[in-house]
Amino acid sequence: MISKFSAGFLVAAAFAWIDIAAAISLPNCQTIAPPQKNITTVRTTNVSVPAHPFGIVYAQQQKDTAFVALNTTLGVLDTSALIPKLIHQIPLPAPYVSINGATGITLTHNGRYILVTTFSTSLLIIDAAAAATGNPDAVVGVLIGSPAAGSSAIEVHTTLDDDHAFVSQEDGSLQIGRRGTIEVFKLQYPSSSPPTKNHTVTCNSIGYIPLGGLVVGTTLSPDGRYLYATSEIASNTTTEGTLSVLDVETLTTNPPDALIATANAGCSPVRVIVSSDGSTVWVTARESNHLLAFSAEKLVAERTSGSNALLASVQVGTSPVGLTFTDASEKQILVANSNRFAGEEGFGNATSGLSIVDVDAALRGEAGAVLGEVRSGMFPREVARAPEGGTVLVSVYGSEVVQGVDVGNL
Ligand SMILES: *[C@@H]1O[C@H](CO)[C@@H](O)[C@H](O)[C@H]1NC(C)=O
Ligand SMILES: *[C@@H]1O[C@H](CO)[C@@H](O)[C@H](O)[C@H]1NC(C)=O
Ligand SMILES: *[C@@H]1O[C@H](CO)[C@@H](O)[C@H](O)[C@H]1NC(C)=O
Ligand SMILES: *[C@@H]1O[C@H](CO)[C@@H](O)[C@H](O)[C@H]1NC(C)=O
Ligand SMILES: *[C@@H]1O[C@H](CO)[C@@H](O)[C@H](O)[C@H]1NC(C)=O
Ligand SMILES: *[C@@H]1O[C@H](CO)[C@@H](O)[C@H](O)[C@H]1NC(C)=O
Repeated sequence: MISKFSAGFLVAAAFAWIDIAAAISLPNCQTIAPPQKNITTVRTTNVSVPAHPFGIVYAQQQKDTAFVALNTTLGVLDTSALIPKLIHQIPLPAPYVSINGATGITLTHNGRYILVTTFSTSLLIIDAAAAATGNPDAVVGVLIGSPAAGSSAIEVHTTLDDDHAFVSQEDGSLQIGRRGTIEVFKLQYPSSSPPTKNHTVTCNSIGYIPLGGLVVGTTLSPDGRYLYATSEIASNTTTEGTLSVLDVETLTTNPPDALIATANAGCSPVRVIVSSDGSTVWVTARESNHLLAFSAEKLVAERTSGSNALLASVQVGTSPVGLTFTDASEKQILVANSNRFAGEEGFGNATSGLSIVDVDAALRGEAGAVLGEVRSGMFPREVARAPEGGTVLVSVYGSEVVQGVDVGNL
C-alpha cells in the first residue's frame, strides 16, 4: 500500500516539471468579503477633522508629529497621545486643490519636506519644520504636471537622494488612450529653512511612462533601485490589474524605457509596500478582497505575468486599500478594508475594518493568517505607522476622522 506521504510525493514529482509554484493562484474578483473575526481588545481612538482625510505620514525630524491631507489644507497632528490632536492647518494654494483636493503624501528621505499630490495634476513641496509650527508660508513649491501625462495625481515617492519625484497620474490623457502614468520630476529645494516666501520653487517634469489603466499605488524598494506601481486594470478590455516594476535610474533619465517587469495582480490592485529587506512586495487587490505577496527577485527574473512570483494570497475584508507593517519587526500587516462601495449594489451587508495579518502564516499559506479585524469608521483609506512603532494612524475618509490604533499589544 502506498502511504499518503509517498502518494503525495509521486504526485508532486509528476507535476514538478510543470511548475511547483503554480500552486498559488491569483484571486478572482469578489464584491463583499466573508465576515472576519472581530478583534475587540485593541484600543482605538479618533479625532474629527474638517474634511475627508486622505494621505497621512509621520514626521521624521519633528517629534510626535504627523501630517494629513485635508482637501484644501495640510493638517498637522500632535501624536504624543494615542488620540491624535489637530493642532494646525496649513492652507494649500487654491488653484491646485480644486474639487478633489490633496491626495497622497510622502516625506522626503531626509525628513525636511512633505510632498503632497493633488487631484488636479500637481505636486506641492512643503517645508516640514515650518508646517509643524503652523507657518502659513510653509508651501515652498508648486510643480505642475504635463497635460500629456495625466490629470489626477494620487501618490508620490522620491529617490533615496530626494533629487527626483515619481508621481502616479491615475488617469492618463486622451492622447495615450487614458492609460495612467508615472510622471517624473527633477526636484529643487529652497536654499533656506524656514522658508521666507511662498511658492518660489519650480521644478521640471522630465517625462512620464504610461502603464495600465488607473495607476495608483507606488512605492520605492529599500535599496532605491526599483519603483513598484499598481494599475487597477491592465487595459480597458480587462477586469484584472497589474503590478509593474520600474528601474529607478532609467526613470530619471529616460522614463519611457524604465519598465522591467509586469505581473498580474488580481482585481484592482491599489496600494503596495515592500519589506525592509526588499524581498517581498505586498499588494492590496481591492476588488478581489485579497492581500497578495510577490517575490521581488522573481518579479524581475520573470518579467511578464509573474505567476511564479506570487508567494501568498490572503482573503481579507471588503475593498482593501491602505496597508502597513505594524512595527519594525514586520511580523504583522494592517490592511484597511475600506468598504468604499458601501451602498452600491452587491455591497449591502459589507463592513469596513482593519485586518491584522500574520506575515509568516500568510507566507506559509495557512488558513489562520488573518488574526481578525479591528473596527473602523466609514472608508478607512490610508495608514501610517509611528516611527517608534506602537501606533498606526488611519485616515478614515468617509467619517472625516483620523483614527489612532494601539498596535503595540496585538
Ligand atoms: C463585529 O462587530 C461588529 C460591530 O460591533 C458587528 O456588526 C459584526 O457583526 C461583528 N462581526 C462578527 C463576525 O462577529
Ligand atoms: C502663502 O500662501 C498661503 C496659501 O497657500 C497664503 O494663505 C499665505 O497668505 C501666503 N503668504 C504670503 C506671504 O503670501
Ligand atoms: C474640497 O473642498 C472644496 C472647496 O471647499 C469642495 O468644493 C470639495 O467638494 C471638497 N472636496 C472633497 C473631496 O471634500
Ligand atoms: C481603449 O484604449 C485604447 C488605447 O489604449 C483607446 O484608443 C480606446 O479609445 C480605449 N477604449 C475605450 C472604450 O476607452
Ligand atoms: C450578505 O448578503 C448576501 C446577499 O445579499 C448574502 O448572500 C450573504 O450571505 C450575506 N452575508 C452575511 C454575512 O450576512
Ligand atoms: C470615534 O470614537 C468614538 C468613541 O470615542 C466612537 O463612539 C465612534 O464610533 C468613533 N468613530 C469612528 C468613526 O471611528
